[in-house]
Amino acid sequence: MNAVVFYSSTGQSKKLATYFSDKLGYPLFDIETNYIDYYRNLVLVFPVHCQNIPNIVKAFLKKITAENLTVIATYGKMCCGNVLYEIQKNYQKNIVAGAYVPTKHSYIENDDPFFNFDKLNPIIEKIKKPSSIQLPKLYKNPLADIFPELRSRMGLKIRKNASCNGCNLCAEHCSFGAIKAGTTNGRCIRCLKCVEVCPRQALNVKIGLPLKLYLHKKKVKKLIIYV
Ligand SMILES: Cc1cc2nc3c(=O)[nH]c(=O)nc-3n(C[C@H](O)[C@H](O)[C@H](O)COP(=O)(O)O)c2cc1C
Repeated sequence: MNAVVFYSSTGQSKKLATYFSDKLGYPLFDIETNYIDYYRNLVLVFPVHCQNIPNIVKAFLKKITAENLTVIATYGKMCCGNVLYEIQKNYQKNIVAGAYVPTKHSYIENDDPFFNFDKLNPIIEKIKKPSSIQLPKLYKNPLADIFPELRSRMGLKIRKNASCNGCNLCAEHCSFGAIKAGTTNGRCIRCLKCVEVCPRQALNVKIGLPLKLYLHKKKVKKLIIYV
């Protein structure tokens, strides 16, 4: 079977996955509700987290086999790390195309989303006529592998405000069992899905100074495509 599978907390990767699904006519699946383990053609779309492949994506890659895999990593214009190369090296060799796509950063309000979808068309063409490629190794901060999720947790806080009525929608949507009635626990990776889904804007995000300064750094707006 052919499919587009995505992991997305704040919607950027989902938007791209929907584009690929529409253009290719492949069904679209959320990584959490996917139940298939063999694909003929698979397009996998996910965000870079702390210059790494999110654990939920690693677990998926361990489970599945794809004859032809296309990997699309969205990133918030800070640093995309080396996630596509790591996928080919550690999980799935048969990669036919890949891209690092600069998008709105989950932690920056009013940041520009990706809009130049036509630029992705060479990938669509390559998926239709697949042949394997070798992905190059890119720069990744040597410290990026040191407790990435703990660093996210320390970088910002999520606090419920008086608007919370305990509806628990945040818990229903959380991929990690990391929040209950607006209060996060140690499993939280600060992906902000809970903040996004809350209908009452009852979750406030407080970004600490070191992360604030980091997010002010010069942005990398590079779309990198491998076909
Ligand atoms: C926990 C976390 C870590 C992130 N780390 C990075 C990063 O290292 N480099 C970067 O450029 N963007 C980073 N981002 C931003 C996301 O990669 C980017 O906003 C992405 O498009 C979000 O995709 P989504 O909306 O599908 O979840 C991070 C976001 C989160 C939530």
